[in-house]
Amino acid sequence: MRIVLKSKYTEACAWTAEYIADRIVQFNPDKNRPFILGLPTGSTPLGIYRELIQKFQQNLLSFQHVITFNMDEYLGLEEAHPQSYHYFMWENFFKHIDIPRENVNILQGKSPNPEKECDLYEKKIADRVEIHLFLGGIGGNGHIAFNEPGSSFQSRTRLVDLTRETIQANARFFEGNLLQVPSKALSVGIGTIMDAKEVLLVATGKTKAEAAVNLTEGPVTELVPASALQLHPRGIFIMDREAAAGLSEDSLRKAEQ
Ligand code: GLP
Repeated sequence: MRIVLKSKYTEACAWTAEYIADRIVQFNPDKNRPFILGLPTGSTPLGIYRELIQKFQQNLLSFQHVITFNMDEYLGLEEAHPQSYHYFMWENFFKHIDIPRENVNILQGKSPNPEKECDLYEKKIADRVEIHLFLGGIGGNGHIAFNEPGSSFQSRTRLVDLTRETIQANARFFEGNLLQVPSKALSVGIGTIMDAKEVLLVATGKTKAEAAVNLTEGPVTELVPASALQLHPRGIFIMDREAAAGLSEDSLRKAEQ
């Protein structure tokens, strides 16, 4: 696992966006050979999306032949709900770039049969053979997508329960009201993410410091879902100084600046 350490949030985002853009450009996708990109929501990727939008606007990058799969969606939220991940993705990224609507895949939170929806989503990913690059954030408790501590490393797309900790962390988007935060979500599994050819996880800010140490130095354990990255042949963990505050001297020495 590569560890990349940047001083600030903006620099961590710029490095990550540059990496993703390079990958897409080098792949040189076309209609018959699209680039398959896994994407997250949350406040962490916002800066990365801003950078990618800028690269598109400067004609350095096109998403015409990129197919995206988002990680997760809250159960029960309409696409148009301002806190749905559909809404988030279109507002913060997709509407600003040239991605064709049919290339965007996001789990349907309002599906009448969420379990079937999850199975179909997993199959849709499998039909693409592999995701070339999966980008993710991490939760304060080490979750990835909505795979809470204790989720199997083999898990696939499925309906999951959110922990109280995650509901509390995400209540900031729901006027601070815990009762408004859905308690379930549809989420790709840890296995789904780790099957990607490359996985990039980004952690910034002091609320991620504990999870960042656990991911980097702790044992690989299902109690810290993000620690699965240590086993990935092409995993990169990108941090800013605040998130890296608890790292040992040894890890800091190994980190690329
Ligand atoms: C949610 C999302 C995760 C995200 C996490 C952290 O739980 N399902 O994909 O990584 O929040 O979000 P933030 O970047 O806002 O800290």
